[in-house]
Amino acid sequence: MDFAKTTMAFEGSRVTLHTMEDRDATEQYVGWLNDPEVNRYLGTKHATIQELRDYIGQKDLQPNALFFGIFLKQDGMHIGTVKLEPIEPEKKCATIAVLIGEKTCWGKGYAAEAMQVLIDWCFRTLGFDEMNLGVIAKNAAAIRAYQKLGFREVKRDLGYVRYGDELHDQVWMTLTCPA
Ligand SMILES: CC(C)(COP(=O)(O)OP(=O)(O)OC[C@H]1O[C@@H](n2cnc3c(N)ncnc32)[C@H](O)[C@@H]1OP(=O)(O)O)[C@@H](O)C(=O)NCCC(=O)NCCS
Repeated sequence: MDFAKTTMAFEGSRVTLHTMEDRDATEQYVGWLNDPEVNRYLGTKHATIQELRDYIGQKDLQPNALFFGIFLKQDGMHIGTVKLEPIEPEKKCATIAVLIGEKTCWGKGYAAEAMQVLIDWCFRTLGFDEMNLGVIAKNAAAIRAYQKLGFREVKRDLGYVRYGDELHDQVWMTLTCPA
């Protein structure tokens, strides 16, 4: 399986996903990544439109990554991103990461819905056995969303990430394909 230069779209009940394009690198998206409330538990603390364009282009060329925008079906508003990377067909697993950048859209289950669409595709279409993710232990909202999807903690690395002066623990979570 080689996902380089692959264009894909998915539909959930309230959101659509489509692979990110150059035109999706907007001021709005840059604004999310530069917002301390949004980037509190992210590795990225600052971004420019050009950096986003480069990142989208880089993901597009990678054989083992798919990077999607999350859009509201009702009005087409871009509210976040969800990424599969790495996709590991030989191990029948993929790692997933999500960002809901529009703060007015937090707490409405959009992260879980967007992830569920890709999890279903990985399990049902690709025949994968497992989905993995990593999250900062203090990111309670993210952990809650992942638990609701069935992810369970499998490992915890103490002091794994440094943001400024603070060291954060990292939680690794796994979801196994239901039999
Ligand atoms: C974390 C994030 C992905 C959650 O997305 P979301 O669409 O708001 O998540 P959901 O609505 O599916 O679920 C959030 C759950 O956490 C709960 N929650 C919200 N804030 C919380 C907090 N501070 N402590 C504990 N739980 C919290 C919500 O009540 C909800 O649970 P419920 O449905 O049982 O009420 C989103 O806020 C986000 O993208 N934040 C910025 C980037 C980020 O941190 N990404 C994750 C990196 S691993």
